[in-house]
Amino acid sequence: MDLTKVDEVVERNGADPSMLIAVLQEVQVEYNFLPKDALRRVACLLNIPPSRVYSVANFYRAFSLVPRGRHLIQICLGTACHVRGSDRILEQIERTLSVRAGGTTADQEFSLETVNCLGACALGPVVVLDGEYHGRMTVSKVESVLKPVRAAAAAANPAGGSAATGAPGQEADK
Ligand code: FES
Repeated sequence: MDLTKVDEVVERNGADPSMLIAVLQEVQVEYNFLPKDALRRVACLLNIPPSRVYSVANFYRAFSLVPRGRHLIQICLGTACHVRGSDRILEQIERTLSVRAGGTTADQEFSLETVNCLGACALGPVVVLDGEYHGRMTVSKVESVLKPVRAAAAAANPAGGSAATGAPGQEADK
């Protein structure tokens, strides 16, 4: 794989072990996830043992070691959201997109992740779609929240749709 982008990220941030997290964040932006080859390259360039790079990449939920969809949906299953029915909203999203939590749709459009708190408990249940918070979510709002993004995805990929493998891409809880 072309690792030029990794080299550029490290060059921008400096080949300093203390910059590991910043480097991984930028590498993930470049590749949409953290490929193994990229992690090895980061380890080499920052002069850090690969095992440490892997453990940092594994530890933080923000990092993904498997390819993510072009759109990221996060649903909070923390206590404040759970008591207001976030599990039912999750089921509705899973049904609507035919993807399980932790998975990515077959057309690579959507990844669905669960989180334990998004820091907006008063707005619960909370769903975040591509960084945009949708508070006080309900099962009936799922379609309207997803519709614009699904429509744009369908327009960009007419042969696709959002059929999904449902295969988990990553564990939902770390
Ligand atoms: S518990 Fe859901 S935002 Fe805090």
